[in-house]
Amino acid sequence: MCGIVGYAGYRQAAPILIEGLSKLEYRGYDSAGICVHTQDAFHVAKSKGRLQILSDKTDGGNAVQGVVGIGHTRWATHGAPSDINSHPHLSESGKIAIVHNGIIENESRLREELEAKGITFRSETDTEVVATMIGIQYDQSGDLVDAVRQTIARLEGSYALGILCVDDPDRIVAVKKNSPLIFGFGEGENYIASDVPAILKHTQTVAYLNDGEMVVFDSQNVSFFDADGNPIEKAKETITWSISAAERGGYDHFMLKEIFEQPKALRDTIGPRLKDGKVYLDGIDLSEEYLKSLNKITFVACGSAYYAAGVAKYIIEKYCRITTEIMMASEFRYCDPVLDEKSLVIAISQSGETADTLEAVREAKRRGARTLGIINVVGSAIAKAADQTIYTCAGPEIAVATTKGFTTQLAVVYLLTMHMAKTLGKVDDTTYAAWVTALEKLPDQAAELLTEARVEEVKNYAKRLTKHNNAFYIGRNLDGATCLEGSLKLKEVAYIHSECYPAGELKHGPLSLIEEGYMVVALATIRELFDKTIANVREVRARGADVLCVTLEELADEAAKQAQSVIAVPSTDPMIQPSLNIIPLQLLGYYIAVNRGCDVDKPRNLAKSVTVE
Ligand code: AGP
Repeated sequence: MCGIVGYAGYRQAAPILIEGLSKLEYRGYDSAGICVHTQDAFHVAKSKGRLQILSDKTDGGNAVQGVVGIGHTRWATHGAPSDINSHPHLSESGKIAIVHNGIIENESRLREELEAKGITFRSETDTEVVATMIGIQYDQSGDLVDAVRQTIARLEGSYALGILCVDDPDRIVAVKKNSPLIFGFGEGENYIASDVPAILKHTQTVAYLNDGEMVVFDSQNVSFFDADGNPIEKAKETITWSISAAERGGYDHFMLKEIFEQPKALRDTIGPRLKDGKVYLDGIDLSEEYLKSLNKITFVACGSAYYAAGVAKYIIEKYCRITTEIMMASEFRYCDPVLDEKSLVIAISQSGETADTLEAVREAKRRGARTLGIINVVGSAIAKAADQTIYTCAGPEIAVATTKGFTTQLAVVYLLTMHMAKTLGKVDDTTYAAWVTALEKLPDQAAELLTEARVEEVKNYAKRLTKHNNAFYIGRNLDGATCLEGSLKLKEVAYIHSECYPAGELKHGPLSLIEEGYMVVALATIRELFDKTIANVREVRARGADVLCVTLEELADEAAKQAQSVIAVPSTDPMIQPSLNIIPLQLLGYYIAVNRGCDVDKPRNLAKSVTVE
């Protein structure tokens, strides 16, 4: 979390920094700040709250003169959001300014050490401790690069740092470990940023820094160094997204835009992997011999990605007959997982940055398992850490609540399942062909769910349901797995207390909560289980719940006999049905959040990439 951006060039830096930060606000948005070299001094401007406050304070950056600077948008870890805790932070001498993304885990020890030497800190942040340490080293050696090296050698945890020195007005030093950092090549100007959208307007040529690497640059020159301080060459990579992909383009929110982008994202993810009625996972080595040798597959992921893994468990076990377990990545490392070379660990992550998932991959490798990533962001930490990666092709996802990220993860899960079932000889030709046809049709079916009339229908139900402060999502089997994601959408963007249970589990406890004022979303799209879920609908309705049932078009009349309202979705192959079912649930969460006046794209207390444990 937190976004950093840096610029060294010939144009005024502050407007570029503020504009860049506006593209990184999804990473953290409780305060923002910039520091620009202005003649022989630093001009620091920072403030608690949204970036707009900083922008207003500096006239969009125009009030700050200077052509070299760094900026930051914060998601608080050490110390509450406040002007004082906002970045950039200065060293005690005021000669060093830094912005930081990450968490310094040995901060309190380092802080105590410095306090014992008489240093007084202005803020509660770990970042000020780092700035102070660099400042002390710099005062001794007069060498900024060396001062940074000496300092990072003592840091534990994660960081991407952008550093300025008042005596060195042209240069920026940046270094990273376990937090993302890219370098952007310009003409007579250069950039650093946490993520591509911050600089995409200015350059599409970037280099991704690896852990331990450092970049030192001014407007004309750039030098990269490895963790030992040796000069290295970095490959230039070209970003293929268009600028519009990272902008809202007429939609009220990124979340809505991204919901509507799902047909394209699915097409991009599925299309290149289906040829002549067959699944091709280029570059992925999952041979028959290897798959037969496996004793289990373990999925590790967080949040929505974990729920995508939940779908994977059902279908891989059903169609490939391989034991499949799912683990929240935050728990995985600490539960002494039983793994060996006969285990395949699959990490799912949109950002490819999630600290818990990254560490789970590393832990799995330490224990001898082979690792596979299902990742959206090319070149991200998890993509690099995993032995093999299948990319989802969702394009940039900006809204904190994932939508197209999730549905493209599901698409890869289907492709993987189909590939493994075929390789293992567990699927007959007719079923396999039906899967391929269903996947080919999926983007168009998703588009059908996003037609005006269908969206209007969800919007109307959302109007009625907005008044409820408690929700239950229920479903069985794959419907239950999908409900978890629907329920998360509602709680994260609409701030409604929402529980999710397998429908059959209700009467083992949670049913006691149901009364008037509760909304229940029941997903009943599995024909064989329809009657059972509808029986649960009857139970909650009898206790006063306001029920919305999502079911297949051909089952809608039957569902309407029990639920107050029904949304009918087109049917597809049962394995692929979750991808269609989730779309109305995403829209429902979105419109209820809008009706409640919530900040949909930037829900309170959350950030897009969770790069801290
Ligand atoms: C989803 O809407 C969430 N914001 C969150 O649960 C997210 O899925 C989770 O943090 C994992 O992120 P990742 O896919 O980038 O690893």
